[in-house]
Amino acid sequence: MKNYQKIITKIYNDLKNIDDTGKIANYIPELANVDDTNFGIHITTIDRNFFGIGDSKKKFSIQSISKILTLTLAYQLEGEKLWKRVDVEPSGNPFNSLLQLESDLGIPRNPFINAGAIVVCDVLISHLKNPKEDFLNFCRILSKNPDLNYSEKVAQSEKSSGYRNIALCNFIKSFGNIKNDIDVVLDFYFYTCALEMTCKEVSEIFLFLADDNFTNQEGNRVLTMSQAKRINAILLTCGFYDESGEFAFRVGLPGKSGVGGGIVAIHPDEFCITVWSPKLNKKGNSYKGMLFLEQFTTETESSIF
Ligand code: DON
Repeated sequence: MKNYQKIITKIYNDLKNIDDTGKIANYIPELANVDDTNFGIHITTIDRNFFGIGDSKKKFSIQSISKILTLTLAYQLEGEKLWKRVDVEPSGNPFNSLLQLESDLGIPRNPFINAGAIVVCDVLISHLKNPKEDFLNFCRILSKNPDLNYSEKVAQSEKSSGYRNIALCNFIKSFGNIKNDIDVVLDFYFYTCALEMTCKEVSEIFLFLADDNFTNQEGNRVLTMSQAKRINAILLTCGFYDESGEFAFRVGLPGKSGVGGGIVAIHPDEFCITVWSPKLNKKGNSYKGMLFLEQFTTETESSIF
């Protein structure tokens, strides 16, 4: 492997004890119980070399990072028709905003804001017999990892405090872009956000977006090359909400954040790297995570640009 190990170790040590101006997410009460000093990094290359440091083997709530997984399964099942239900434009607004839905007539700007992921969950419910079990099984087969699970606690915590998402789902339903019962859609959405993984597991599950020859546990391709290109393109333009431009500017890789403090970044044909540090900046993205990835792509000269 390139000198990733040396560079990751150096940046990890440089950032470990800096003054972190971020704040842990507390609008989902259960997330506030996590130790906010956790800091882990794991990289997996497409030739399956890997390196981890810090808290890279502790499970955390992947939250919106799961939006890539729900999108991937919905794209597999629905094909190009999916883009009639959800657009592919950056929103330039916070992840839980209701603002544009009114003028956009209930079509969310992209699948990585909450509104878009809720519509994607609705699409999945129309296809799957047992959505929660089937989706979890899809993730396990994709990552060849039977050890993946939802956190019941996080799912219930979000359910009891998910006023914004409940409003979003109802609002979209009023335009006819939610086909199933809103309680069923929201329950499924909350569970997908409550998936738990380690940095190592996250950097392994997204190899299908980096490795052109990737096959899942059953020996099947997950997406066509063109579909993988499209998901990477939406990640680059929309993966960090109203901070997507900033992430592309500073890091230069497609990626996705979650309010659990995780960020995954993908270098097509090279690697997947995951950073976890729970304190978030004002836009809801991990403060240290962004800093780490900025220094990483700068020092390794390994962005897509
Ligand atoms: O629906 C929510 O608000 C959370 N379950 C997920 C939001 C999230 O992770 C946004 N990411 N930065």
